[in-house]
Amino acid sequence: MERKQFLRSLGAGAAFAITFPCLGSCSKDSETEGIIVAQPTDVDFTIDLNSSEAAKLANNGGFILKNLVVVVKNLEGEFVAATQICSHEQYDQVRFINQDGGIFYCDVHGSRFSQEGTPLNEIPNSISKPLKIYNTALEGTILRVFE
Ligand code: FES
Repeated sequence: MERKQFLRSLGAGAAFAITFPCLGSCSKDSETEGIIVAQPTDVDFTIDLNSSEAAKLANNGGFILKNLVVVVKNLEGEFVAATQICSHEQYDQVRFINQDGGIFYCDVHGSRFSQEGTPLNEIPNSISKPLKIYNTALEGTILRVFE
């Protein structure tokens, strides 16, 4: 059965519900709540610190998102990187925030992680798991992020 035939067989209401499940406020919610994503594998990429994509890495505390990795210039001016995918429920909402000397934070349920990936708090009814941290190496203006 083709998609069109399938939708026709469901009737207009069901077809609308399947075709447009996110009309209205859904798009805003998905931006703020994030989506569930599998952990990136075989992470190994470079960033030219002189490029426009790296502009936010010019200042301490700045970060960018690339290939599902949060790449950070921490408050001491060192580069660190962690997965963007939270170890709690795999939402892609991990970011770097300027608290307690700089930590990784997921705003979906409030998980906090040290720059080494150690959980800093417990989420009720779940087991705290470490956040995946990646290696960084700087050669000239090229920053490499890798496993
Ligand atoms: S998914 Fe990040 S805190 Fe729950």
